[in-house]
Amino acid sequence: MSSWSLFTPVRCKQLHSIQVRDQSRFNSRAQSKRSPTRALSRGRRQWQLAVCSQDGLPAVLVTGASSGIGRAVALHLASSGWRVFGGVRREVDGALLKEEEQRIEPVIIDVANAESVAKAAALVRGLLEDDRGLQGLVNNAGVAMVAPLELIPEAEFALVMDVNVLGPLRVTQCFLPLLKKAPRARIVNVGSQAGTLAYPGFGAYNCSKFALEAFSDTLRMEMKMFDISVSHLSPGAVKTPIWERSGKRSNDVMEAASTHEAAAQYQELNRQTLAAAGNAAVKGCSVQETNFAISHALSDPKPKTHYIIGRAANVMIRLRKLLGILSLDWVFDWLVLNALSKF
Ligand SMILES: NC(=O)c1ccc[n+]([C@@H]2O[C@H](COP(=O)([O-])OP(=O)(O)OC[C@H]3O[C@@H](n4cnc5c(N)ncnc54)[C@H](OP(=O)(O)O)[C@@H]3O)[C@@H](O)[C@H]2O)c1
Repeated sequence: MSSWSLFTPVRCKQLHSIQVRDQSRFNSRAQSKRSPTRALSRGRRQWQLAVCSQDGLPAVLVTGASSGIGRAVALHLASSGWRVFGGVRREVDGALLKEEEQRIEPVIIDVANAESVAKAAALVRGLLEDDRGLQGLVNNAGVAMVAPLELIPEAEFALVMDVNVLGPLRVTQCFLPLLKKAPRARIVNVGSQAGTLAYPGFGAYNCSKFALEAFSDTLRMEMKMFDISVSHLSPGAVKTPIWERSGKRSNDVMEAASTHEAAAQYQELNRQTLAAAGNAAVKGCSVQETNFAISHALSDPKPKTHYIIGRAANVMIRLRKLLGILSLDWVFDWLVLNALSKF
């Protein structure tokens, strides 16, 4: 297997990499700029009628809406008939979002700060008139980092876990009372292929996304009694600024660790890992694909529990699981290390 195919999701023309049972309907609805209630078949309209009989637009909160996947889906949902609360950390990002789409209501929310999350929940509760609930929550905010486990400072590791795992926990806990008020509410957690496929150098990110998978699975079962569905997204690489940001953060960590006695031993591996991540950033899927999957999870009467996005992610996740069952982990290790050595 070439290095390219391992670390670079094959660019998908349309949605063939998103596994949905009823692809044609999914495509037409997801691509439609119309209200989510309009492009549905008769049978499926019943669910939407229940949602929209609330006398207003269904409301959704998207965390991390200042950039990348979150920003794209916030804009997409607003133009598709949703009332969107766009979670941002800075006022200026909220203003920029609003400038692009008047219908988005920016909400300041730092998922790593419990007080900020509680304040955001109180604000949204106040904005939802008539005690109307929140129909959807998209736990998207996240950070990435490349640094080997021997060198990564505990504080940096904890930061990734804090944003990527405790963040969704805090947000879900604070917003659940609002979600319970809406009919058949939806929670969408944005994980990653890194929640199944562990790569060297991505230890902190891998640990956080593996944990998020378990979070989604547990939450899905716990939410059954409230009729709230939980979907988990596992995208392969997507073209967003996350790779540039993680590159900068990783360089800072490596610079700080340069006095560590093992720093020199990891130099080459780190270079390869960052190069592979950079390559994936260039060749990754477009945010349209994540838009479609998130819209489907929020709008379809039968949302999927897992959405794997990107053909390479689909192949690699299946292969990884199979190799694990067959106790052939060494094959996966060889594939990954061999692919990395090509960078
Ligand atoms: N891009 C990919 O290849 C890829 C692949 C698989 C999964 N994902 C996942 O997709 C999600 C979105 O990533 P992205 O690619 O769109 O990255 P991005 O462009 O860097 O966006 C990350 C978003 O998360 C926000 N964020 C970071 N820390 C936060 C905090 N403490 N509180 C609130 N918001 C915070 C950022 O806000 P600021 O602007 O304020 O920093 C930004 O809006 C992440 O969970 C990521 O792990 C991405």
